[in-house]
Amino acid sequence: MKGVILAGGAGSRLYPLTQVASKQLQPVYDKPMVYYPLTVLIASGIREICLITTPQDLPRFRQLLGDGRQWGVEIEYREQPQPEGIAQALLIAASFIGDHSVTLILGDNIFFGGDALPRAFEEFRSGATIFAYHVNDPERYGVVEFDAQGCAVSLEEKPAQPRSNYAVPGVYLYDNDAVRIARTLRPSARGELEITDVNKEYLRRGTLRVQRLSRGTAWLDAGTSSSLHEASAYVQTIEKRQGMKLGCPEEAALYRGFLSLDQFEVLLGGMPRCEYRDYLSEVAAEVRRVGLKSA
Ligand code: TTP
Repeated sequence: MKGVILAGGAGSRLYPLTQVASKQLQPVYDKPMVYYPLTVLIASGIREICLITTPQDLPRFRQLLGDGRQWGVEIEYREQPQPEGIAQALLIAASFIGDHSVTLILGDNIFFGGDALPRAFEEFRSGATIFAYHVNDPERYGVVEFDAQGCAVSLEEKPAQPRSNYAVPGVYLYDNDAVRIARTLRPSARGELEITDVNKEYLRRGTLRVQRLSRGTAWLDAGTSSSLHEASAYVQTIEKRQGMKLGCPEEAALYRGFLSLDQFEVLLGGMPRCEYRDYLSEVAAEVRRVGLKSA
């Protein structure tokens, strides 16, 4: 399984913040936003990652994430010159995806808690797996409708009259057909290649799995000033209460075995003295004491 992070877009709702730095580089409490989806991929065992962003923002992402080797992964970069739709990511990354399956994740989506995501990665074999999350404002998202047996029966992009409160979060697991399906898409009325159209094609074929995320899972998207603020407040609350950080690629890489403890400690040695480094030092000390399994 390969991973694609889509981190382009206009970020117009965050103006003027996005005048000089893209949305996914903005801080969500104590880390850049893109660390959170990146950590989801690493924690899911994905080592080959492609980040797609605008030509202007690409050098900044490269500066922040490099080639990924520091975390035991490989990160490649591709440009999306215009925000022509989420499904366009599958075309831009087609040569990177090759004949593999792929997880596409949006650079401004933050997930925390629950075991649905890790389980879905483990269980994924073919077709598509997407998720459904109960929200207050489904009209802002792709919306999935279920029948009485809990099977998905319809998918609609930003419907004026949503048929349910279940929105589709920005993480999608696809087999290799997704690239071929994306090639057949035509732009929607708003001029975008819609990821909902890819999902609808899987639904039509009977190979779409829609997994509901329970209330134990948090899904936040940080696309507006208030949702960005709420995401920061949420991360701060959880981190303070639990003494554990969310969205640390270093920690995920250590737990996944992408980095040895020695490599992890060398990585820390290169960081300035700061709270982030202090936290990771504690993680290292804990792993030295009790081992990886029980830490
Ligand atoms: P949106 O939040 O829908 O769009 P945006 O980021 O351009 O923001 P705004 O509406 O405020 O102008 O996009 C969701 C995510 O997908 C976000 O991380 C940006 C990314 N995206 C792309 O990278 N390319 C695209 O063509 C689209 C449509 C979205």
